[in-house]
Amino acid sequence: MAESMVGLKRTHRCTEVSVANVGEEVTVMGWVQTRRNLGALIFVDLRDRSGILQLVFDENIIGKEGFDKAYTLRNEFVIAVTGKIEKRSGAVNANLKTGEIEVIATDLRILSESETPPFPIESDINTKEELRLKHRCLDLRRPDIQSCIIMRSQVATLTRAFLANEGFLEIETPMLTKSTPEGARDYLVPSRVHPGKFYALPQSPQLFKQMLMCSGYDRYMQIARCFRDEDLRADRQPEFTQIDMELSFVDVDDVIDVNERLLAHLFKEILNVDVQLPIQRMTWQEAMDRFGSDKPDLRFGMELKNLTEIVRNCGFGVFTGAIEAGGSVRGINVKGQGEMPRKKIDALVDFAKGYGAKGLAYIAIQNDGTVKSSFAKFMTEEEMSAIIKALDGENGDLLLFAADRNKIVWNVLGALRVEMAEQLGLLDKSEYKFLWVTEFPQFEWSDEEERFVAMHHPFTMPMDEDIDKLESDPGAVRAKAYDIVLNGTEIGGGSVRIHQGDIQSRMFNALGLTDEVANEKFGFLLDAYKYGVPPHAGLAYGLDRLVMLMAKKDSIRDVIAFPKVKDASCLLTNAPDVVDAKQLTELSIATVEAE
Ligand code: AMO
Ligand code: AMP
Repeated sequence: MAESMVGLKRTHRCTEVSVANVGEEVTVMGWVQTRRNLGALIFVDLRDRSGILQLVFDENIIGKEGFDKAYTLRNEFVIAVTGKIEKRSGAVNANLKTGEIEVIATDLRILSESETPPFPIESDINTKEELRLKHRCLDLRRPDIQSCIIMRSQVATLTRAFLANEGFLEIETPMLTKSTPEGARDYLVPSRVHPGKFYALPQSPQLFKQMLMCSGYDRYMQIARCFRDEDLRADRQPEFTQIDMELSFVDVDDVIDVNERLLAHLFKEILNVDVQLPIQRMTWQEAMDRFGSDKPDLRFGMELKNLTEIVRNCGFGVFTGAIEAGGSVRGINVKGQGEMPRKKIDALVDFAKGYGAKGLAYIAIQNDGTVKSSFAKFMTEEEMSAIIKALDGENGDLLLFAADRNKIVWNVLGALRVEMAEQLGLLDKSEYKFLWVTEFPQFEWSDEEERFVAMHHPFTMPMDEDIDKLESDPGAVRAKAYDIVLNGTEIGGGSVRIHQGDIQSRMFNALGLTDEVANEKFGFLLDAYKYGVPPHAGLAYGLDRLVMLMAKKDSIRDVIAFPKVKDASCLLTNAPDVVDAKQLTELSIATVEAE
């Protein structure tokens, strides 16, 4: 029977009491974590969001009725207990914040009962994620998830306060809007009032924050929900949250400066980690050449080496063929793995193929110095020595090579580099390596669309010295765009924006957009640009990704209260779901069977 809490007031959360409160009467409320009976005593661990407190029910103190009631307590019952704080009579529990004390109960009320939960409410459980997400309400009670959700709240609060202090205004932008150009598919919302027309949920507040700069607000920030209909991974959700910002009258260094200080502040306040400022910067070109990735993980080396010149005239057709086709040959040295069994090497070849490689060549230098290689027979001894030397190969090393178009070679070796580091346990989650990647290419060739597409978005400013190449050599234009990378994850990105109408038109032309189409899509922004635009720039973090890394988690699902799964559905609410025929009729929508 559920009792009421009328007349009772919670005085403390479970871990807000300590030895300093010994002798005081307190009232605590929460969930039963465990109950243990020891003859005339019943011990209950009480849990709330702060942690655990031991309660003691002694028949001589609480009386028979109270004792019998305590006897009925089971896990996850919600109770209110009044009692006196005492030093523990039994052993001190050093693992608990309240391990030195206990509450000797004088009154117990059962506020609600609980069925047996489908999994234990504890940090380390082996329960399948599907079951946890289906019962997310219970899952969110578990201390490890709870600490992520609390950390996320701290990040948001500290960010708001820090940016407010830097002169940023928090301004909301619409959720029901027009498509924004971040490159993913839009989520659409049908309009009832305008049959056949749709709003798009924002992929980011990009265009609105630029218009706020046009309106003179100068420094804007928002913790903004964004929606992107794209294939999901561990670090991608269909709806996610950005810490979004835009600044007027600034260039790249100004944006980087305020953001470095913001990151250092968050890491110090929340994790007591000192971020060394300034954060290292690297151009996109250098990141690709050295790490095969635009978001390199700098916690370990294993850098790529370009061997194109060494093997240009060798006898191995795979290498020379790739070079003749305009590609390159590059390799990495996996230290100490020269004796890797053939089976495992074959698995690496398959892994490489998954990233677009046609194959993966290797030299396995055994501990005694003999060499096993998939292509030695095509090489002279001098060529083999030169390759090994270029990669600093020593006895016991495994050298891996990819030959193809640059893009594929980078992709394959960049992924292999991380895979090997994972297999070898080189990735320490308590080490934080930040990096700014700068000077991204303005455009990327899309084989699918057979045209250049914007690598960041069409409002990104080219580097001053590259503006002349917009028409003559678009592939060589670098952008004033920057990403902030942490341990191999892109946690944020931004750019200086174009604020000159003529450059913006040239940009649309380079992207194959006619003036007409540009006007139809972004006319409202172009219109705003006619009336005095301040130079401006900005950046957005993926809040979920940032918190995931701060909380040392592998998935952003762990730091989102109600996340979706791989197929973008919500296991808790069962969304998306069918709707009433009446609702569809009101929206002038008819559904058809998928083919
Ligand atoms: P961008 O598209 O790079 O830039 O997004 C900024 C950051 O948002 C995070 N992010 C995601 N997080 C979770 N799930 C997703 N599906 C997802 N997609 C992106 C990433 C990324 O770095 N308007 C620009 C920013 C600007 O130019 O100011 C933008 O949205 O961490
Ligand atoms: P093949 O002559 O195709 O049997 O390949 C000989 C060796 O080169 C094998 O170890 C292949 O895995 C490897 N190989 C094939 N294509 C590539 C490539 N594009 N880059 C690197 N190695 C390759």
